[in-house]
Amino acid sequence: MSSTPATQVRLKAYPTGVVGPDTWTVTHDAPAAPGPNQVLLQLQMLSVDPGMRGWITPKRSYMPPVQPGEVMRAFGVGTVLESQAKAFVPGDVVTGFTGVQTVGVVDAMFLRKVDLSLAPASSYLSGLGMTGYTAYFGLLDVGKPKPGQTVVVSAAAGAVGSMVCQIAKIQGCRVVGIAGGPDKTAYLRDVLGVEAVIDYKADGLDQALKAAAPGGVDLYFDNVGGAVLDSVLMQIKRHGRVVLCGGVSQYADAQQVRGPANYLQLIAQSGTMQGFTMMDYMHRVPEAVAQILEWQAAGKLQFREHILHGIASFPQAFDMIFSGANQGKLLIDLQG
Ligand SMILES: NC(=O)c1ccc[n+]([C@@H]2O[C@H](COP(=O)([O-])OP(=O)(O)OC[C@H]3O[C@@H](n4cnc5c(N)ncnc54)[C@H](OP(=O)(O)O)[C@@H]3O)[C@@H](O)[C@H]2O)c1
Repeated sequence: MSSTPATQVRLKAYPTGVVGPDTWTVTHDAPAAPGPNQVLLQLQMLSVDPGMRGWITPKRSYMPPVQPGEVMRAFGVGTVLESQAKAFVPGDVVTGFTGVQTVGVVDAMFLRKVDLSLAPASSYLSGLGMTGYTAYFGLLDVGKPKPGQTVVVSAAAGAVGSMVCQIAKIQGCRVVGIAGGPDKTAYLRDVLGVEAVIDYKADGLDQALKAAAPGGVDLYFDNVGGAVLDSVLMQIKRHGRVVLCGGVSQYADAQQVRGPANYLQLIAQSGTMQGFTMMDYMHRVPEAVAQILEWQAAGKLQFREHILHGIASFPQAFDMIFSGANQGKLLIDLQG
C-alpha cells in the first residue's frame, strides 16, 4: 500500500434522470501498489465530459458502464510515481483513462505519454486530447466537408463544437453555430468569426436556420440531438450529411430517448446520417495532434478551456455540462 494521501470520487448508484448528490461518494482510500502492466499516478488535471452520463447508465454502449463502488471513469493527465509497465518510468507525464481521483493505480494500456514542453496539461485534455481528435476525425473523416459548403454545428461554443467550427472554417466552409445564450453566440461570432450564429434558447430555431442557411445545409455536425436535429433535418440539402457526434439533450433518461422525427428528409434528399466514436480513431491520434498543433501555432485555431479547481468540484462540474454553464472544455485542476 502507498502512503500517498488520495481522494476518489466513486459511483454510488446508477442515477435515474437528473444526476444528483446521491450519485457520488467520496473516499480517501490509500492506493494499492501497482500490479503487472499498471502504474501509480499523481493526477494533475481531469476532464469532465457529457459522455460520462452514458458511462453511469447500465445500457449497451461503446464501453461497459462504471460499476457502483468503482472510481468514476474520466480522462486525466498525471505523473507516474511507480511503474510496473515497460512503457513508463517514474516521472513520465501521461494521459488517458485515469479516473476521478487525485492519486491512483491505472492500467498502462489506457495511457500514452505527453510532452509538457510542447503544451500544458490542460491542452492534452482539450484541443490535443479526446476533444480535439473527436472534432478532427468527426468533421474531416466522417463529414468530409468541401470548401464553400454550409456546415451547421450544435453545442458550437462547447469543447468539441468550437473545434469543429474552427476546423470547418480552415476547410473554407461557411459555418453556422448554434449555442445557448448571448455570451456563447458572441464568442462564436466575435472571437471565432463564424458566419452566422443562432441562440437556440431565444431564437425561433426553424426560422433562424432558414435565415442563416438560405441555400440549405450541406453538413450538420450534431452534438445535441432532439429538437435541434429535427430542425436541421428540415433544411438538409440534396445529398446532405449529418454527423452524429453526440446527443446531449437525450442523455438524462436512457429509457426515453427521442429519435429524429424528421428523418424521412434523408430519403427525400438522398442524405446520409452517420455516427462515430473517438474510439474508432485511436490509432490515428498522432496525425490529429500534429495537425492541430500546426494550426494552433499558425494562429488558425484556439482551445477554449473552462477550469475548475479541486476534486471536490466534480459533482458541480458534472451539472455544469448539462445546464450549459461551461464555456468551453470543462476541466478540473487538481493542483490549484
Ligand atoms: N462521438 C464521440 O466519440 C464523442 C467524443 C466526445 C464528445 N462527444 C459528444 O460531443 C458533444 C459535445 O461534447 P463536449 O465535451 O464538447 O461538451 P460541451 O459542448 O463543452 O458541453 C456540453 C454542452 O451541451 C449543451 N447542452 C447541454 N444540454 C443541452 C440540451 N438539453 N440541449 C441542447 N444543448 C445542450 C450546452 O451548451 P449550450 O449552452 O450551447 O446549450 C453544454 O455547454 C456531446 O454530445 C458529447 O457526448 C462525442
